[in-house]
Amino acid sequence: MKKIGLLGLGFMGSTHSEVYKILCAQMDICVFGVCDQKQENALHASRVHGAKLYRTAEEMIEDPEIDVIDICLPTYLHFSYAKLAMEAGKDVFIEKPVVLSAEEGIKLLALQKKNGCRVMVGQCIRLWPSYVYLKETIDSGKYGPLKSLVLKRVSPRPSWGFENWYQDRNKSGGSVLDLQIHDLDFMRYLFGEPENFYAAGTIDHAFGLFLYPDGLTVQIEGGWDFPPSFPVSMEYRANFTQAAIDFQGGTVFVYEKDGRQFSANIDSGIDCGNCFGTEVADLAGYYKELKYFYECLLNGNEIVIASLEEGVKSIQLAYKEIAKGGF
Ligand SMILES: NC(=O)c1ccc[n+]([C@@H]2O[C@H](COP(=O)([O-])OP(=O)(O)OC[C@H]3O[C@@H](n4cnc5c(N)ncnc54)[C@H](O)[C@@H]3O)[C@@H](O)[C@H]2O)c1
Repeated sequence: MKKIGLLGLGFMGSTHSEVYKILCAQMDICVFGVCDQKQENALHASRVHGAKLYRTAEEMIEDPEIDVIDICLPTYLHFSYAKLAMEAGKDVFIEKPVVLSAEEGIKLLALQKKNGCRVMVGQCIRLWPSYVYLKETIDSGKYGPLKSLVLKRVSPRPSWGFENWYQDRNKSGGSVLDLQIHDLDFMRYLFGEPENFYAAGTIDHAFGLFLYPDGLTVQIEGGWDFPPSFPVSMEYRANFTQAAIDFQGGTVFVYEKDGRQFSANIDSGIDCGNCFGTEVADLAGYYKELKYFYECLLNGNEIVIASLEEGVKSIQLAYKEIAKGGF
């Protein structure tokens, strides 16, 4: 049994709590403790899971009863609490972006090497069903080589957040670190580091053009400078020699060269009622990443998808883009 301490019960911590309602019934795990600086935020999760309510993060992290700390704190707090948790010998799940700077990431990697903690980063797109479909299609080679890929993620600036931390670039890293990181990381997951790239725009709405061998071009748009009423959207468009795949409005459309066209039947591969799907609001990606994390912990497997090292490398690429774009 893995006993979890859920740290931070704002937007993302509440989302994880919803996922744990399903996962704790399916796996040998339980939410043992919860903690939020504002206790009223953690109260609901404490009741739902029958979990102990801790007054401070330090108290929860130091409790020897707890095996795993799930960090859903504002990004600027990830480093110090991940460090504390790793020093206490806990395994750790850290929401994306893993930390605010490459230097912090390198320190956590050194700590991990020293004490062997298992750490996963919440780069959920690596496990998001519609994106898993794209990776599997590319890897299968069924539509021939990929010529170009466009990844897009746009939204209004998050209006919630503890002490308005999203509004402060020094706390959130701006839209490049907070939002575009999803697609930068997914691109790295697909193709590794780019050979060259260009960047333009601003920290709140950036455009990157990434060049890979054999003429493959990846364009990434990420921005949260849209009006409050603008819909949150994530999209991709992949152009192969034998077909094009277009993900928009939550549906993956496939257009084959011979004229056949259809919407792909995305199989989430999970059985949890209405928790799966391809819409931004659905829990499927979060469910799948946390399930993968606990499967690795329970079975003693190495965390390969969205490891700490991968999360740090994606931060490093984000900062290279910021430097090149002069954001
Ligand atoms: N994977 C995704 O799709 C996704 C989506 C949204 C946010 N996130 C990430 O999740 C993280 C959290 O974002 P959020 O939107 O939930 O933020 P939030 O502000 O809604 O929640 C943070 C919570 O942490 C609590 N908190 C602050 N300091 C604390 C402390 N010292 N001890 C205990 N609790 C404390 C706050 O009271 C708040 O409830 C961020 O890193 C964000 O980038 C990921």
